[in-house]
Amino acid sequence: MSGTMGEPFDLCATADVAAGEIGRRELPGGHVVAIYNVDGEFYVSDDVCTHGEASLSEDGMLDGYQVECSWHFGRFDVRSGEPCAMPCEKAIRTWPVRIEGDRVWIDVAGLE
Ligand code: FES
Repeated sequence: MSGTMGEPFDLCATADVAAGEIGRRELPGGHVVAIYNVDGEFYVSDDVCTHGEASLSEDGMLDGYQVECSWHFGRFDVRSGEPCAMPCEKAIRTWPVRIEGDRVWIDVAGLE
């Protein structure tokens, strides 16, 4: 990723989320995000599925670049947040990620 981050937040260590796994972290203010490790590349999205109230970090399964929600098997591309399987129709919010050393940072400038 290029460019500077508006408001960097130290999310976790890269070792906290194994390849193929989904981590969970609460941001300042209580907003929860899911952290995906796709073969050593990290992506972050909101934790709650846009179809229902499922937690993707708890009820999701990572399949390549897609996370599948176990409630109704909807899917999102973790790179863009775009839905890629019904019944998910609304994109999920994704967060810009930067890796520095062994830490995963996201930009929380847009956090409401
Ligand atoms: S709650 Fe996620 S697919 Fe329905």
